[in-house]
Amino acid sequence: MASIRIDIERIISSVDPRIYSGFIEHMGRCIYGGIYEPDNQYGLSDPKTGFRNDVLAVLKDLKIPIVRYPGGNFVSSYRWQDGIGPKELRPRRPELAWLSEESNFFGTDEFIDFCRELGTEPFICLNMGTGTLQDALAWLEYCNSSANTYYANLRRKNGHDEPHNVKYWALGNEVWGPWQIGQQESQDYAKKAYQWAKALKLLDPSVKLVSCGETGYADWDRVILRKLASVVDFHSIHIYTVSEGKHAVNVIGPAAAEKALDITRSLIDLAKIEAGLEKDLTVCFDEWNKGAEEHYDLSDAIAVASWLNVFVRKADIVKIACIAQSVNVISPIITSSQGLFKQTTYYPLHLFTNLMRGASLAVHVNSPVYNGPTVPTWIKQLDTHTPNAFKLTKYIDVSAVYVEESKEVRIAVVNRHQSEDFTVPIIFAQPVGEKTVKVYEVWSPQLGDKNGFEGEKVSTVQKEVDWEGSYVLKRHSFQGRIMELV
Ligand code: AHR
Repeated sequence: MASIRIDIERIISSVDPRIYSGFIEHMGRCIYGGIYEPDNQYGLSDPKTGFRNDVLAVLKDLKIPIVRYPGGNFVSSYRWQDGIGPKELRPRRPELAWLSEESNFFGTDEFIDFCRELGTEPFICLNMGTGTLQDALAWLEYCNSSANTYYANLRRKNGHDEPHNVKYWALGNEVWGPWQIGQQESQDYAKKAYQWAKALKLLDPSVKLVSCGETGYADWDRVILRKLASVVDFHSIHIYTVSEGKHAVNVIGPAAAEKALDITRSLIDLAKIEAGLEKDLTVCFDEWNKGAEEHYDLSDAIAVASWLNVFVRKADIVKIACIAQSVNVISPIITSSQGLFKQTTYYPLHLFTNLMRGASLAVHVNSPVYNGPTVPTWIKQLDTHTPNAFKLTKYIDVSAVYVEESKEVRIAVVNRHQSEDFTVPIIFAQPVGEKTVKVYEVWSPQLGDKNGFEGEKVSTVQKEVDWEGSYVLKRHSFQGRIMELV
């Protein structure tokens, strides 16, 4: 019999709001035609900045703490110097990651202006493909220096007297991948990134550096952490889950991320023990999402809710996570020149970022488990190392937070089952009086239901119900519930 047990004394860690961060890359229509469209014919863009006002408004509702930029694969042949100064002088270049052309009309200063407008912190990924340490130092100087030196003065000349104060810098993107320009072996990358980190921190000791990780459980991660633990603040992980056309695979996929985080936590511990370090070193999950298809359905929204449950449950180790990506590319928001629509996946993301902040609680869940015969091929490698990790995945997937100020428990519950509804008792360790519960539900009758410019089949329905001691969880649904405790 299914049940959920909650005890507000069992705190894992506080949920870091930075797990609700975003990512914009020079890829497809993410930037041009997504967040930036100066020549929009329908009056949707700000005449001065060229930013799409409608996109900014929706992104503001997502309360995004950090935005990562400019890639992704794009960054590995990006010359940041091309993207500053008068636009008519910016060179148009061949773009090798996505085989397109880059106008450079949107560059560092536009990115910073966009972040300020959005009320978010910028996070820059450095080019460790074709770029040199000299380029990286110049970029950092341009952004953060208040000295009387060349690149700081160039920023002033370009109209920005005050430093941009970019706190987060990543040491390359997916340098391990064969698709990456300038792919490297782990030892080579580790040696190089160590020297880069030293120099960057000499120029600006306040920056937070992110080492380039792989899945968190790869040999690459072990080698990189061992060498870089002393000089970085975060280790990055990238995982995209795919459905292989099956709902069960789609929604249990995020269990791979949970396993990966457990393994990364241990690798970080090991690296710290070996080097005798006592510093903070946590995970920046700077690319995650339900990948492959771009037009999401309800099943994908359920997958995204499960992803976010993982981050809340692992609040002690994941301190930053960036959905890849924020607009148009594998994204919760799709634009055209005449407007935008919110994909199904927008709704769980919106609920989590607005509600699931506070102290993450260790919830005990009894639930029927997934016992499908096949393990998704893309997580075979992980499954080999951790037999049954996925076959035992619970259909009822839960995270919970306690908000001290309002004395509220907020519970995020996903029923991943394709066809069964469950009535689930919630047993609290603390007394619960007569209560009204605020319920936010993302559901629709068909798993294949999608949203589009013509209308939304999947969105959040809000209601208030009397607390009766249990939840009725519809098949393939996501529910956020807020209860006030005495
Ligand atoms: O987000 C799309 C791409 O996926 C990114 O550019 C890359 O880092 C990853 O492989």
